[in-house]
Amino acid sequence: MNNPQIPLSSTIKPPIGIVTVSDRASRGEYQDLGGPAILEYLQDVLLTSFEPQLVVIPDEQSLIESELCRLADEEHCSLIITTGGTGPAARDITPEATEAVCQKMMPGFGELMRKVSLEKVPTAILSRQTAGIRNNSLIINLPGKPKAIAECLDVVFPAVPYCIDLLEGPYWETNPERLIAFRPKQK
Ligand code: MTE
Repeated sequence: MNNPQIPLSSTIKPPIGIVTVSDRASRGEYQDLGGPAILEYLQDVLLTSFEPQLVVIPDEQSLIESELCRLADEEHCSLIITTGGTGPAARDITPEATEAVCQKMMPGFGELMRKVSLEKVPTAILSRQTAGIRNNSLIINLPGKPKAIAECLDVVFPAVPYCIDLLEGPYWETNPERLIAFRPKQK
């Protein structure tokens, strides 16, 4: 288990993977707004500094899978957040790619994000976003709309640092003025 006594600032910055899945953004037909919005969100809520690893890839299942595996296995990202490709259209394949590379699924993440998003937009039900665990990495899917990013992360992020603890990843500290991470008291 990681040791909260060791300040992370004295070690290397832990990496976080940010994956935009979009055919058009990957071809440069429009600017990727989702990846930078996730980065901005993380910089806002995390006190612990981290090394962002941003990638933009098309909606190809094999490419999404290999990118998730690379970020988890080679870059050792304890957290990987994807945006896009969660809907019902033919090319939307991010949840399938996520499930294919994970040993465990975490269905509560998708359930909660959809529930809260439905209070804002009726089409939230069209997102099949999910989350799962690959070895020591938590992978969370978000919809492609940039405004969905904070809407979704605000509800699940309080549980993310403890989930990373349980995966023996770095000890993430959040900015309590922005978001309080919940960690059950030690027995
Ligand atoms: N969730 C939130 N919070 N806000 C949104 O605007 N858009 C929905 C849904 N979830 C949305 C949302 C829409 S319109 C779609 S089609 C699905 O996410 C899937 O989006 P994606 O294929 O870009 O991932």
